Amino acid sequence: MMRIDILSCVPSLLDSFFAHSILKRAQQANHVEVVIHDIRDYSTNKHRTIDDYAFGGGAGMVLQIEPIARCIRALQAERAYDEIIYLTPDGEQMQQRMVNQLSLKGNLMMLCGHYKGVDQRVRDMFVTKEISIGDYVLSGGELAAAVLADAIIRLIPGVLNDETSALTDSFQDNLLAPPVYSRPADFEGHKVPEILVSGHEAKIEEWRYEQSLKRTKERRPDLLQ
Ligand code: 6GU
Repeated sequence: MMRIDILSCVPSLLDSFFAHSILKRAQQANHVEVVIHDIRDYSTNKHRTIDDYAFGGGAGMVLQIEPIARCIRALQAERAYDEIIYLTPDGEQMQQRMVNQLSLKGNLMMLCGHYKGVDQRVRDMFVTKEISIGDYVLSGGELAAAVLADAIIRLIPGVLNDETSALTDSFQDNLLAPPVYSRPADFEGHKVPEILVSGHEAKIEEWRYEQSLKRTKERRPDLLQ
């Protein structure tokens, strides 16, 4: 079973996300265990503070190394981790290829940054991989960790059924997914493409591939390069 430990200073942001839908079922079926840790629990001072001013001055607080190191080491004493991932806007941009690779791992740790970030020594001493979910800035790494964990978990064998199979995802073969339709076949004169109700399986496959290619050419020509 895969295990994902997420270290955060706002753990309540993550709790409800993993308590629903496919992610909840994946945990109930023992495909994955997601454990969320409050970095504040590893503070040793009485006000439970975990951030401080930046050396050298400047705006913004920095997450301190001590509570984070204590949390990471407590977890490492229990099991070996394949990757310790820091979610940060200056990390490598998340791609499906990277997600596919991570879905094959056993134990992953994800560290969410906040404020002006974490003390650089956390990154130097513990972090093995730094990931950004795109070129925009979020107020914390929690949403990014949720995005990454969701993308990983849905690829674990058994998590998705035939209906939700990852094989037909956009990006899985560098093509965007084709359009899909359901009943009614005619909505206010807007009809479903004839081919899809024809019953010709081979022709439908061919149509879907053509549509994928057309969409990708129009919307994401960079994927075809
Ligand atoms: Cl991983 N964190 C934050 N704070 N902002 C981001 C991000 C991560 N990825 C894109 N923007």
